Amino acid sequence: MIEDAACAIGSEYKGRRIGLPHTSMACFSFHPRKILTTGEGGMITTASDKLAARLRKLRQHAMTVSDLARHSSSQVIMESYDEVGYNYRMTDLQAAIGLVQLERLDEMLARRRRLASRYSQRLSHFEWLVPPLESADCRHNFQSYMVQLKSDAPITRDRLMQELLNRGVSTRRGVMAIHREPPYSHEKWNNRLPQTNVVADTTIILPLFHTMTEEEVDYVIDCLEQIKCSSHELEEFKT
Ligand SMILES: Cc1ncc(COP(=O)(O)O)c(C=O)c1O
Repeated sequence: MIEDAACAIGSEYKGRRIGLPHTSMACFSFHPRKILTTGEGGMITTASDKLAARLRKLRQHAMTVSDLARHSSSQVIMESYDEVGYNYRMTDLQAAIGLVQLERLDEMLARRRRLASRYSQRLSHFEWLVPPLESADCRHNFQSYMVQLKSDAPITRDRLMQELLNRGVSTRRGVMAIHREPPYSHEKWNNRLPQTNVVADTTIILPLFHTMTEEEVDYVIDCLEQIKCSSHELEEFKT
């Protein structure tokens, strides 16, 4: 099994970090949207020496001897390319940026957890929003703080995003559904994925970043309060 661990750096399952083997390989993304970023790119973790050697070979055009090994040898070595590989190398500059952040990962995770817990505490008074759940055997890295609007919410998700943006709060939709995008859209999927459709229409990601202040979290909640209070006026926007 190969894990899509794109968003999961620092998350834990059954007391162990994702990437410490639960499966044969875990693939992480370092896209700027992620907690740890190298601009683009990512990493794969594995406990298998065989898989690691294979991945290292494929990432540099399937070179039989790495350039590092050749350049540090006192013998002239001619490499060969026995199969078709890829250029999936990360530059040293990117890796350096990533390594510095790796040292700060625990600090960034702790900060995110504190801010998430402040959100959840204050959101517990909102009867129309469901804060994120963390099951007993999991530990969330809070890359995102995603809430769901209940079916009887006084406002639609899209309208809520606009109302928050009007108050200077930028949000994102929680989940995107590929079967609704033109290249894959087809009625048969729409009928077979009712839960996905509900989640795609009712989830929203609130701002959360490790340099965020408590006051900024409170401001977001205050805006939600304000929107809730004017919900009678907003009722008319519900569609
Ligand atoms: C679950 C999941 N898988 C894969 C990806 C793709 O990662 P990348 O853009 O680094 O290829 C993402 C990106 O957000 C993701 O959220």
